Parts: sequence; C-alpha cells; structure tokens
Amino acid sequence: MALSGVRIAGAARYAPARVVTNEDFERWLETTDEWITVRTGMKRRHWAADDEATSDFALEAAKRALEQARLRPQDVDCFIVATVTPDYAFPATACIVAAKLGAVGKAAFDIGIACSGFIYGLTVAAGLVRSGVYRRVLLVGAETLSKIVNKDDRSTAILFGDGAGAVVLEAAERDCFLASELGADGSVPQLLFQQAGGSRCPVSHASIDRGLQYIQMEGREVFKFAVTSMISATDVALARAGLTRHEIDFLIPHQANRRIIDAAVKYLELPRERVLVNLAEYGNTSAASIPIALAEAVEANRIGDNDVVLMVGFGAGLSWGAVVWRWSALR
Ligand code: ACO
Repeated sequence: MALSGVRIAGAARYAPARVVTNEDFERWLETTDEWITVRTGMKRRHWAADDEATSDFALEAAKRALEQARLRPQDVDCFIVATVTPDYAFPATACIVAAKLGAVGKAAFDIGIACSGFIYGLTVAAGLVRSGVYRRVLLVGAETLSKIVNKDDRSTAILFGDGAGAVVLEAAERDCFLASELGADGSVPQLLFQQAGGSRCPVSHASIDRGLQYIQMEGREVFKFAVTSMISATDVALARAGLTRHEIDFLIPHQANRRIIDAAVKYLELPRERVLVNLAEYGNTSAASIPIALAEAVEANRIGDNDVVLMVGFGAGLSWGAVVWRWSALR
C-alpha cells in the first residue's frame, strides 16, 4: 500500500567550534555585553574558521540526522539545503553535501529564502513525500553568516551566527504534516539584503569599497515586520490545521531577537515553557535556527509522540512561513 503521510525520522544539529561571546565584541566594537543582552537576548554565537564553509556544517548535521534515523545516505532520494550563504553562487550546496555523503546521482537543490528557508523547505520536502514523488528527503538549514557580516558594524555583527540543522523526512502511514502558510513581499528588498554578488550589482572593486558584499538591514523596520508576520503566519497555519493556539505543545520560532519572540508570544498568549528559545547560544543562524532548536528539543526528549509543534520563520524577502507538525516519536 502506498504511504501518503510524512514523518520526521531524524533531527540533528551541528555548530562550528569557535565561539564568539558578547565580551569578545567589546574588544573591537563600541558595544557592551549589557546592550547586546538587553536588546537581543544573545550571549554567544558560533563562527566558522577561515577554511570552513556551509557544506561542512550541513554535512555534519546531515550525517547525524541519518544516523538517528538509522538510514544510509543512499536511502535518501532527494537532498535540499536551505541557505543564503552557499559554498558558491553555484553549484547548489545540496549537490556538494550529497556528493560528500556518497549519494551521487540523487536529486539535490538549494532553497534561498533566508530565515524562512527551513519552513519553505519543510513545506516543499513534505509535499514531495506526501505526493509520492520521493520516499525520503533530507532537508538541511545551514548558514555561514559570519562570512557575509561586516565585523566592524556593531548593528549587524553581533546578531549572526553559523551552524546547521537537518531533518530526514520519510513516507509514513500517519501524516505528521498538518498545515503550512508561506508568504513573501519583495517590494522593498533593501530592508534586508546582501546587495553585491548578484546580477544587479556584481562584485567589483567599487562594490567592495562600499561594503556592499555585507548584510545590510533596517533593523527597526524588520523588527516590526517580524512580530506581525510571526503572529499572522501562526494564526493562518493553525486555522488551516483546524487547531487553536491552546493546542500548540511547542512553538519553535526563528531565533532573531528575544524581544521579537517575546512580543509575538505575548500576543499569542502562549506559556513560556512551550516556546523553544536558544538564541543566547547561537545568535541568528537564519535558515539553520529552527532546525537547530528542533534538534536540541529532540535530543533533550522534550517533544513527545503526538505533540503539536508549530514552527514559524520570517526574514529577507521579506518572507514568512509557518508549519504545523504533529510529532511522531523517533524509532
Ligand atoms: N551596541 C551598542 N549600541 C548599538 C549597537 C550595539 N551592538 N547596535 C546599534 N546600537 C545603537 C544604534 O547605533 C542606535 O544608536 P543611536 O540611537 O545613537 O542612533 C541605538 O543603539 C538604537 O539602535 P536601534 O537600531 O534602534 O536598536 P534596536 O533596539 O532596534 O535594536 C536590533 C537593534 C537588535 C538590530 C533590532 O532592531 C532587531 O533585532 N531587528 C530585527 C533584526 C532581525 O530580525 N533580522 C532578521 C534577519 S533574518 C535574515 O533574513 C538574514
């Protein structure tokens, strides 16, 4: 009998060894541990070494997720990496990860929608499995944001970290995917973007002199958008799933700023213990932040069979997305 449901069979994470603390920034930026803690909730973040790149982190998280699922790379039909910091502009980082795993010949592609990347990826991957196109899909959110942040800009340098979170999706009898809501508004891309490196503004000496290869962000505008989009995406996805806010067992929000999460959670009237927050340890790892938090919760046995997990992200695009997932215990 064909299986029309999907479940997560493994979830794992990886972060590079180098840790940068708030106090470290005090050595070269006009900032303080107190400012960063109060305004963002962040204390530490992991940064890549010079010779490390996104596929290295994605590979480690992928290996661990496969191990947890008791699967071999060859058992996977399709590899997806959600990232805005790929190893190269092309080929896709997913191709490199699949090859490093020894799974040459399988489908592999990237999704580049910044901090919403894991939510978009989960929706696409679940769709591929539920529709019967593939039996198993490996989805990784992985970033090396430290390589595209201006380390001398105190308003962005402190925010971003590196790492990867991976999930293995597989066909199942019971369907764990309950609903999804995805959206985007690209009318003002410059609210949050990396200007140089694409076809509108190729990398040149002039663009480098102006620092256009780095993340640029209108922090206050993004903050306001983040709170409203988290709330509305959550409400729409829940309605689609036929559930109420009170039926959420765990909320896993994108980890961009503690104050953004607090504002949305207050509005949603969710108890603190149901909201998974790890940005003190990782900072904002964009597409990796939700799967890293999910993997941590799985490792700690916090999420139980049948729990309703709502994952919600937002970011450059501007873009947003939420997925409602019914957890199925790992084997
Ligand atoms: N240390 C000390 N002072 C600082 C720092 C710092 N690290 N950074 C900024 N400041 C200063 C500013 O220069 C400003 O000074 P001024 O008043 O003299 O001009 C003052 O602090 C206040 O600056 P704001 O930008 O208003 O501070 P705010 O409270 O808004 O916090 C922050 C800034 C943390 C960036 C916040 O706006 C935020 O989190 N925004 C959303 C970020 C976000 O969600 N990004 C998503 C990215 S995801 C993706 O797709 C990649």
